[in-house]
Formats: sequence, C-alpha cells, structure tokens
Amino acid sequence: MKILAIAMQKGGVAKSWLTRSLSVVASHEGLNVLVIDMDSQQSTVAWSERREAETPLVQFSTERELPAILKRASEAGCDLVFIDTPPARSTEAPAAVDAADMVLIPCTPDIEAYEQVARTERLARLAGKPALAILTMTQPSGKSEQEIAQEVFASMNLEMALPTIARLKAHRDAAREGRTATETEADSRAAREIAALWMCIKERLNIRTSAIVHNCTREQVQK
Ligand SMILES: Nc1ncnc2c1ncn2[C@@H]1O[C@H](COP(=O)(O)OP(=O)(O)O)[C@@H](O)[C@H]1O
Ligand SMILES: [Mg+2]
Repeated sequence: MKILAIAMQKGGVAKSWLTRSLSVVASHEGLNVLVIDMDSQQSTVAWSERREAETPLVQFSTERELPAILKRASEAGCDLVFIDTPPARSTEAPAAVDAADMVLIPCTPDIEAYEQVARTERLARLAGKPALAILTMTQPSGKSEQEIAQEVFASMNLEMALPTIARLKAHRDAAREGRTATETEADSRAAREIAALWMCIKERLNIRTSAIVHNCTREQVQK
C-alpha cells in the first residue's frame, strides 16, 4: 500500500481539490483507493457525500486515529491512500507526512504561497520523505508564472511536477456536483492536466495498475 500526503501550510492552494481529482483518476484505473480527510472542516468528506458514489472511499481521521485507519486499510487490501491535510501549523500535517511515502505540495503562483512552501518542504525533508511541488491555479496562459515557480522551488531543491494545474471553470463546476473534471469533462484541459500529474505521481510511487481487484470496503476501513 502506498501513501501520498497532500500538504502545504497555506490554505486555498488546492490541496483538497487535487486529493479529490487524483483519487478519482486512481479509482478509475482500478486501484483500491482510500482518501483520508484530516481537516476538521471535512470539506472532502462533504464532497464525497455530494457525489453519492461508492468510490473513492473517503474517511475523516484525527492524528490519533490515523495509524489504526492505515493499518486497517492495508489489511483490507487498499492500494493507495491519499491524505488531505489542513493548512496552518497543524499537528495533522506532520502526522500525515510521517506516514507517507511521498508528499505532494500544491502551491499557487503568489508570494504568500512561496513564502510558506519552504516550511512544508522542510517538514518533508526532516521526515526523510520525497516531496514534489505542483503549481496550481495558474492563469490559463501563464507561462511566466511557471518560470518564476521553477526558480523558487529550485532554490530550495524542491522538485516541481510538470505540467501545472490551471485555474479553470471545469474544476469548480465539477466540485459543485461532488465530481471532478475527469468525470464531467473528460476531454478538457482540466482533465488532461490532472491525468498528467497522476502519471507523474504514479511513476514516482512505482504504482502499477494491472490486474488489481477492488476489495476494500467502508466496513473494513471503519471498524
Ligand atoms: N485548478 C483549479 N481551478 C479552479 N478552481 C480550483 C482549482 N483548484 C482548486 N480550486 C478551487 O479553489 C478553492 C480552494 O481549493 P481547495 O482544494 O479547497 O484548497 P485547500 O485544500 O488547499 O485549502 C476550492 O473552491 C476549489 O474548488
Ligand atoms: Mg483543504
């Protein structure tokens, strides 16, 4: 079982949205996916309730409950766990990073986010976990934003995923229905960018998607 923590000190950088979008793509590929929402606002749990679908499985967890939930998920045959974390100086993000095989750090192209990204990079580095930055909510034609971000991340030896994720209406429209752009507008730029990010993560986590059978149920994860 592989675990991906999605963490960044700053709020509103698309942590939760990337968690949901990537977990849907991974589920579509036949992976047995669990999403753990560690934010007390539970916006990813709410998205899951809006969606009225069996997959991906979404479960709220506190820092204290996390090890037990991960153990049950592993025993239940879960392939991949996404952990959505709250912003700011939470105790949840360090717990998620400690449990993870890799940390995805979403960052928007603005100075406030760049100022915060170093803290999250440090959290991953001190825990000895590989980290990957992803530039989110870029202007749909914002090439220069990408170049600036590359410089910022390079200065802290933080690898950056390509391509970036543009701010697009398709994402917001899908969110309202508890779905993702991959489901509502499969041929859109929004869906293609998420697919490209997923390929990047899949390769780094060494995930193979052939001959995997769904067998992890809510009852098995919840106790
Ligand atoms: N690429 C995008 N294009 C348009 N809206 C987006 C995009 N990514 C995220 N959003 C929206 O931006 C808001 C903040 O994203 P969210 O994932 O909740 O951030 P965080 O979890 O980091 O606080 C949400 O309303 C989300 O639907
Ligand atoms: Mg969030």
